[in-house]
Amino acid sequence: MISFARGAPAPECLDAELLADCARAAVERDTGVLAYGAGGGYEPLREWLGARHGVEPGRVVVTNGGLQGFVFYAEELLAERPGQVIVEAPTYDRPLKILARLRAEVVAVELDGEGLDPDALERALDAGETSFLYTIPTFQNPSGRTLSAERRRRVVELAQARGVPVLEDDPYGLVRYEGEAPPSLHELDGGELVTYASSFSKTVAPGLRVGWFTAPTGLAARLEARAVSNYISPPFLSQATVFELIDRGAFEPNLERIKGLLRLRRDTMLETLERELAGTATWSEPEGGYFLWVDLPGDAATLLERAEAEGVSFVKGSDFFPDGRGGRSARLAFSYASPSEIDSGVSTLAALLRA
Ligand SMILES: Cc1ncc(COP(=O)(O)O)c(C=O)c1O
Repeated sequence: MISFARGAPAPECLDAELLADCARAAVERDTGVLAYGAGGGYEPLREWLGARHGVEPGRVVVTNGGLQGFVFYAEELLAERPGQVIVEAPTYDRPLKILARLRAEVVAVELDGEGLDPDALERALDAGETSFLYTIPTFQNPSGRTLSAERRRRVVELAQARGVPVLEDDPYGLVRYEGEAPPSLHELDGGELVTYASSFSKTVAPGLRVGWFTAPTGLAARLEARAVSNYISPPFLSQATVFELIDRGAFEPNLERIKGLLRLRRDTMLETLERELAGTATWSEPEGGYFLWVDLPGDAATLLERAEAEGVSFVKGSDFFPDGRGGRSARLAFSYASPSEIDSGVSTLAALLRA
């Protein structure tokens, strides 16, 4: 199966030897990583992340990946401020499932080529009490789109004017192949309403399960309490392995290497789409991240069924909406398949669309 479904790094992205060496060094440096400890995470990593975001280390909670933190954040906010949760349409499917399990009222606000539409956001905010806004402003999952700098300012202003908390989920921001990074919502807001979440899943390795939340002080303490009550103590060995990688100066070179591998895949997918589907379908052209979004001439579910029979998978657009929209769209991940698989898989999809 050629997978355009998996939002995972290609196996070559994971440097097993380097990470094994960092893990060994991490235990040798501090055997405390094998013990129970503070729920907010490995202290040296919290300090490094705090310095990067310009906040006290106590405001950084290192979680078992970004998604685990999302569960804690959503549970906390829905209890503190009952109300609708505003998400992007489309948005990452796993949070949609978590919000459904938490019985949250979810309102999905339109995205266009520049990201979340602030006018639509304003209308949604005016329509009812809001618990929080969940946004993935950079190289969004699933659309690959990035919120423009101007819109970032408007989104922050709207949130500030109403006192609505925002969760900025940014696991892809550092995986940029070209162009300038716009300011984060967290920077624009000063970290009062915006909680910034990210992860080392895309920049180091997803199996380490190391993500983080930079939250206002009181909220950070409550997220940490949730972590303790759920799993007593974080996996310090993973967190210390990431810290060792950073401390020996290997994070940036490793990230550059990963970006080289993924840029080639992104370019191959864009070139093959252009060669095979120009005039038939349209797609986003992300400057980074893992995904692009394709608007198809027909039904995505039918295409998926036929594509799987031919050995190619993707995720249909409707999985990323809470309300069944997206029936003629698809998310294609270029992160996992090899360049030659990408060429062959996109050609298969194009042949099926032409048939
Ligand atoms: C937008 C977004 N948020 C969070 C995650 C979760 O990542 P992890 O839990 O591995 O940090 C992903 C993973 O694909 C994602 O795309």
